[in-house]
Amino acid sequence: MTPAAAHKRITALREQVSHHDELYYRRAQPEISDYDYDLLKRDLADLEAKFPQFASATTPTERVGDDRLEGFVTYRHRQRMQSLDNTYSEAELRAFHQRLVKTFGREDLAYVVEPKIDGLAVSVTYEKGKLVRAVTRGNGEEGDDITANARTIHSLPAELKASKKFPVPGVIEIRGEIFLTLAEFQRINQEREEASEPLYANPRNLASGTVKQLDPKLVAQRKLEIVLYGVGFCEPAVTDSQSHFHELVKHWGLPTVERTWKATGADEIWAAVGQLDKLRHSFAYGTDGAVVKLDSFTQQREAGATSKAPRWAIAYKFEPERAETRINAISIQVGRTGVLTPVAELEPVALSGTTVARATLHNKDEIARKDIRVGDYVLVEKAGEIIPAVIEVNLKRRPPSCRVYRFPAHCPICGTAAIQLEDEVAMRCPNMNCPAQVRRRLQHFASKACLDIDGLGEAMIEELVTRGWVKELPDIYGLRREDLLTLGKSVEKSADNLLAAIETSKRSELWRFIHGLGIPHVGVAAAKDLAGHFRGIEPLMEAKTENFIANKTSVIEGIGETMARAIIGYFNEPRNRAMVTSLLEAGVQPQAPVKLAGGSTVFAGKTFVLTGTLPHMTREEAAAKIEAAAGKVSGSVSKKTSYVLAGAEAGSKLEKAQSLGVPVIDEAEFLRMLKG
Ligand code: IVH
Repeated sequence: MTPAAAHKRITALREQVSHHDELYYRRAQPEISDYDYDLLKRDLADLEAKFPQFASATTPTERVGDDRLEGFVTYRHRQRMQSLDNTYSEAELRAFHQRLVKTFGREDLAYVVEPKIDGLAVSVTYEKGKLVRAVTRGNGEEGDDITANARTIHSLPAELKASKKFPVPGVIEIRGEIFLTLAEFQRINQEREEASEPLYANPRNLASGTVKQLDPKLVAQRKLEIVLYGVGFCEPAVTDSQSHFHELVKHWGLPTVERTWKATGADEIWAAVGQLDKLRHSFAYGTDGAVVKLDSFTQQREAGATSKAPRWAIAYKFEPERAETRINAISIQVGRTGVLTPVAELEPVALSGTTVARATLHNKDEIARKDIRVGDYVLVEKAGEIIPAVIEVNLKRRPPSCRVYRFPAHCPICGTAAIQLEDEVAMRCPNMNCPAQVRRRLQHFASKACLDIDGLGEAMIEELVTRGWVKELPDIYGLRREDLLTLGKSVEKSADNLLAAIETSKRSELWRFIHGLGIPHVGVAAAKDLAGHFRGIEPLMEAKTENFIANKTSVIEGIGETMARAIIGYFNEPRNRAMVTSLLEAGVQPQAPVKLAGGSTVFAGKTFVLTGTLPHMTREEAAAKIEAAAGKVSGSVSKKTSYVLAGAEAGSKLEKAQSLGVPVIDEAEFLRMLKG
């Protein structure tokens, strides 16, 4: 390669890497797999090594990035949070050991091998054994204060268990990883699908998207988990090795990695990595590799660090399991809101322990971007070990007869011309009477997270729609016993049960009803916020933009511009209004949330942020009192915050309140205000 060509390529690679960093860190919506990202980085590093004249001091060889976001208070780590060098090659792993052998002049170096958890790095500070702060890595020097969100993690104790044998230091920054279990990831994505929201690519993106929610209440609805695996700052020092640290962490009552291995020398490291690879599929969380660390802290200090990563540790990453297979057909699924989702029907292929026969192709643009065609051989990977994704086409095996895929211009179910809404990538079937949409709407309305109508599952809905008894949601309430009895033998009891369940659903909670309407982007959490705010379906139907957004900020916490637009758009549609009216006329009376504790409303319209330790109550108790008096609790201080309720050892939130001029009150003042 000529220097000029190398320069051009280096510049292009750098742009790509920074583009993908932005998608990965700030938006938690990556476009390429970690593996492909690592390859890009590797290409860049290799070229820079060959052409040092074009190398940049700021080009990281591994992902350091910057995860900080607007809306969070930044906090400076007492000790810099570094990332790790990573490799996919056994030879490089052995070379890592050899470098240390050279440094120390001995072969028998002791290591600890740990699973590399696929989540996001966090630093948790305990002072005198009490949890005071949790901060993301940010740029390594300073990160976002996510304490309120971290407190929603049940396995993270507010206080460490101290004992004579395992004393707790005055101040310790403990490093770890926040993640979601694979099961929780699936549950949440299913909910997103129901709300017509884009799915998360993998558990790690979902975990980082969750940690970066400004409202801890939303965070609490997703079960974040944590493991702690390292010491940052510690005063006074309480341990001098990684293996002893793991012991300490367990005795303090902190969750830690599932298993660790002690290894001396490269062969033992490699054997441990192999064992981990066999075991990791049984873990509840995704592991994408092994982290190998020198055990002795003295040796760690001596080995030191480059400007990018420590020399005493390395991450060995497992190559994602991929398989090549043929696309037999591309089918189109019609969602509840008419979104047309292309799905690759694959020649079944074994991948990470299961058989993969279908993979989502996301949308029209994605197919065009990857130029995916029916008949192509494609590389399939299970992203986050769950959802199969088509990574790329093997052009060498493309049959000459393969034609560019044309996204259907019509809905495959009802034949209506498909449309594309402004600002949307998805194609939609605009026909609300499309049988596929009707079935999905009914399924959603009757589902557990909505009106929870027992007996109205997929099969029953299919029957009701096919027989023409139900064309829209209100028809459920007009179902006749004598019709249901014709559905088969011994159906009397199930017909009666179904009718009883339908009757009960008439008095469901308002949020269930709102969620059940299937307004795009409105999931359970938003439905609850809307129900709490509007307290009736009619005011919600009449709401205007200014009821949601004033001075470019949300009037109702948790309801942003996109959602506001979707809600207004939904109720602007005469058919939707007519449907809601019919439901009400059929006797549906959604129940507004009950006001708690004697119906006090002294804090109506007020938003509180709680920080520090209160003398006579926990923050959860204070939050319950605020909400019972119609107030709101938020996790972060902004100009919109009405009061910061601060206790002992209040940290950055107090500082932020002072800098913004937000009134700060103590517990006594709070109790006075509560009395009204
Ligand atoms: S040690 C200076 N141990 O992987 C050493 N990191 O690719 C810092 N990670 O930034 C990290 N599991 O977010 C360490 N057992 C483990 C880990 C782990 C996951 C993450 C961490 C780190 C990244 C490096």
